[in-house]
Amino acid sequence: MNFLQIIYLIASLTFVIGIKMLGKPESARRGNLIAAFGMTIAIFGTIFLYEGIKTSNYIWIFGGLIVGTVIGTLMAKKVKMTGMPQMVSFFNGMGGACAGIISLVEFDHILHTGPFTDADPVKLGIIFLGLVIGSISFAGSMIAFGKLVEKIKDKVLPLQQVVNIGLLLLILGIAAAATLGYITTPNVLFLILALSLLYGVLFVMPIGGADMPVVISLLNSFTGVAAAMGGFLYDNKVMLFGGILVGSAGTLLTVVMCKAMNRSLTNVLIGNFGGGSKDAGEGKAITGSIKEISKSDAAVLMKYSKKVVIVPGYGLAVAQAQHICHELEQVLEDEGVEVKYAIHPVAGRMPGHMNVLLAESNVSYDKLIEMDDINPEFKTTDVVLIVGANDVVNPAAKNDPSSPIYGMPILDVEDAAHTIVMKRSMKAGYAGIENELFFSPKNSMLFGDAKKTLTELVSELKSL
Ligand code: TAP
Repeated sequence: MNFLQIIYLIASLTFVIGIKMLGKPESARRGNLIAAFGMTIAIFGTIFLYEGIKTSNYIWIFGGLIVGTVIGTLMAKKVKMTGMPQMVSFFNGMGGACAGIISLVEFDHILHTGPFTDADPVKLGIIFLGLVIGSISFAGSMIAFGKLVEKIKDKVLPLQQVVNIGLLLLILGIAAAATLGYITTPNVLFLILALSLLYGVLFVMPIGGADMPVVISLLNSFTGVAAAMGGFLYDNKVMLFGGILVGSAGTLLTVVMCKAMNRSLTNVLIGNFGGGSKDAGEGKAITGSIKEISKSDAAVLMKYSKKVVIVPGYGLAVAQAQHICHELEQVLEDEGVEVKYAIHPVAGRMPGHMNVLLAESNVSYDKLIEMDDINPEFKTTDVVLIVGANDVVNPAAKNDPSSPIYGMPILDVEDAAHTIVMKRSMKAGYAGIENELFFSPKNSMLFGDAKKTLTELVSELKSL
């Protein structure tokens, strides 16, 4: 085993250790640094120790490294916590694009040695597969990015599922025919590229409502698999290993997300879910009246409760209210109230969003209770305080088959004696639908920005 292979082995180990450490908020930052160290030694090891690299290319390699590092660092420094999901989606798309470009370059190398039909069919197959998966991941991630920044709206074409399945089969058929020598023109590469990009757009375009988390994790696994194809092509162990790791972690996350959203993986793959489902509509119109509660009444209600459950949502992240939320929890506990947090798997805009946010303000990890464990507890809860959450507590998911979120498991907050919803207006959440809970006789609305309202609630509680 030469020195470069040892570097690759160490790098691969750091990826595994890093991923393991990402599993807990306390160790996540260190885990990220360890994996980044592994990636750094793998990159520089390849540049300086891989025999095929000519020193005359260093100018291009380091030029690209510097440009990429500067852009990546500036973006990461500038991004707000609420902008993280779209940045992750964008970076994921860039990974897919890189994998696709590797296939284009390697195909060009083959053409330099003769007709591509004379090449090793296994190598050709890997090149085509890398191009297909990488391009789908790139185009899909760009559409997902557009949706997350709310610049692209869900769009379902007539016969969308038939078109999607047909297009995917056509791409795979053309790639197989070219691999086996039935298609001889090298331009087939551009046809596969164009159709794969189109498929990426059509695949993500109809996915709407609350189902974006599933598609984001699926695209993430696509990028991993596409990168692993590059590892096969170059016989590069660390690239293969890293790609498989991302691919399998993304696939596991997709399965977890499918379970959280109660969607089947097959439906996800053919774009038949969320806003794209033929049964999903706008949801039924809700009539009725809401009642508001003052901060002082809300403070009294909570102070004299035995048990309060806080439901954090995307609005908590927008308002950056996690620290004051933790203070509210402590003030209530000083009054002898039992306080827990109910964590829905897709609350916020990225997997684990609420866990990361609350860990940032040092909320004890054992107070964060997952949906399946907290749901039976709502029956014995006096007050549920819903802070900037909406879709994850929308009963339409259980009661309204015409709703785009129908079937998604939600937090059963309506089982509690009282619910208080803290948000700025009556506007809808991510899925764009009204929430029947707001009109329930057991519910009260506490309008305002979450940080400001929580700050005032804490002062009210302290003055009681
Ligand atoms: P949402 O349903 O998006 O609702 C968030 C609510 O927060 C909004 O109704 C908004 O109402 C309120 N809000 C915003 N800013 C606020 C502020 N400064 N102060 C107080 N309230 C504020 O959030 P959720 O319940 O967490 O559900 C998450 C949704 O995002 C789901 O549909 C999920 O599928 C989707 N999604 C999740 C992910 C992942 S992986 N977690 C990824 C993509 C999409 P006002 O405007 O009236 O204040």
